[in-house]
Amino acid sequence: MEYKGPVIVVLDFGAQYSKLIARRIREAGVYSIILPYNVPLEKINTPNLAGIVLSGGPASVHQPHAPLPKLEIFDLQVPILGICYGVQIFAQLLGGKVEPAHQKEYGIAYLKHKGNSELLNGVHKETPVWMSHGDQVTAIPPGFITMGATENCPYAVIGNPERRFYGVQFHPEVVHTPEGQKIISNFVHTICQTDSTWTMGNFITQTIQELREKINGKKVLCALSGGVDSSVTAVLLHRAIGDNLHCVFVDNGLLRKGEPEMVEKVFRDNFHINLHCVKAQERFLSALKGITDPEQKRKIIGSLFIEIFEEEAKKLGDLSFLAQGTLYPDVIESVSATGGPSSTIKSHHNVGGLPEKMNLQLIEPLRELFKDEVRDVGKQLGIPDEIIHRHPFPGPGLAVRCIGEVTAERLDTLREADAIFIEEIQRAGLYNQIWQAFVCLLPVKSVGVQGDERTYKEVCVLRAVTSEDAMTADWFRFSPDILQRTASRICNEVSGINRVLTDITSKPPATIEWE
Ligand code: XMP
Repeated sequence: MEYKGPVIVVLDFGAQYSKLIARRIREAGVYSIILPYNVPLEKINTPNLAGIVLSGGPASVHQPHAPLPKLEIFDLQVPILGICYGVQIFAQLLGGKVEPAHQKEYGIAYLKHKGNSELLNGVHKETPVWMSHGDQVTAIPPGFITMGATENCPYAVIGNPERRFYGVQFHPEVVHTPEGQKIISNFVHTICQTDSTWTMGNFITQTIQELREKINGKKVLCALSGGVDSSVTAVLLHRAIGDNLHCVFVDNGLLRKGEPEMVEKVFRDNFHINLHCVKAQERFLSALKGITDPEQKRKIIGSLFIEIFEEEAKKLGDLSFLAQGTLYPDVIESVSATGGPSSTIKSHHNVGGLPEKMNLQLIEPLRELFKDEVRDVGKQLGIPDEIIHRHPFPGPGLAVRCIGEVTAERLDTLREADAIFIEEIQRAGLYNQIWQAFVCLLPVKSVGVQGDERTYKEVCVLRAVTSEDAMTADWFRFSPDILQRTASRICNEVSGINRVLTDITSKPPATIEWE
């Protein structure tokens, strides 16, 4: 999609928070994109450019080859906001001074200001802000004034209202700065003079129109998994092109309880989408027979999926496009922590070279969106909450949670136990506080006693984590009664299990899935 409204560019200096800055700007209703700090000027200076944010970053302006923006950005006549390292860049390049702080500052500080700057308009005169810096500005550039200070940081907020350049030493984008969103909103609305035009309603209208023009009566193929991204992609496309969309859903027998039925019900019965359901449980099971190595499992599942998908595509014939649910975090060119430009562009869910092989053009209608925006689009398109807020699920499905050999019987055992765990979590109202919760079946048997009988059955593990992006995760703290109820129900209701463990390892050192 070619977004036509105003754009705020976040220049990324390797900050862990760059994505968060862009998300906050979008929450304020203004479209924002992230670009590496050293992109050519013409990439930044588009006709819709309304403002620039210089992100934080791990570097020091004093280090050799410190990452610096192109000086021309200061002549573009658009407002600029520097955050943390970003404000130090201002100071360094525009004639001020940056030095190592007497005391490195991490955590909450209290910002005091007089309330007479546009950036801090409406913000309490004393407000908590989140600091994380080693260097700080010690002399401001000519033309700048000091707008706020903390105990250890005399130039916590500086600005040159005439040139519309502002800088903050703290991080307004993080939740620990409670009035940060107000500051970001002041920057984008008052200083950059933009209206809130970036709404998911506008996105849907514009994208549907563009999809229609681009696809122009031709046929589109879409792999539907029942996950949020592919579901939203499918429904959005269906709105745009109706029956020219063909979705293929492969039931590989490795899905969660009730999942295939739910996908058919929602997409075929409710949305009336052309849905081609391939019942391929047997094929997957026989390909996985005797396999216990996790990598081998993944390879087998991946290549069989492509094989089946290709067969379906051939059957449909006469296709022109392949739709994918690629999201913005997958396509951002990020800057590595060392400050050097690196292109970590992932090819996401790319269906095994199929586009080239079948001469299909890729369509990725969600590639500008963050996950929470995709959820919002899905909600507005009427996709049920059950899909929109479902925990992430790995492509190879239950095979990575069925440790050891994957058999029909073990999968049934796992599916039942997993459904009980999720049911108990939902009953306790905790589902949306958890990033991912699932049961993992171990290839370990232990002795138990049920009634008067000695049993010898498998062991399962309850895994539940909180996370922001799955890169790191912490284990979820359940109250003992939920664990007790889940364990007792699993042992009573699932015939293949007589012992339940819980996993209290964070990531790192563990991963979320067991494999
Ligand atoms: P780990 O286990 O590496 O997982 O901590 C991080 C996140 O990725 C999910 N995951 C996958 N998602 N295809 C996917 O689409 C996969 O092959 C895959 N493997 C892991 C995992 O569930 C967790 O959310």
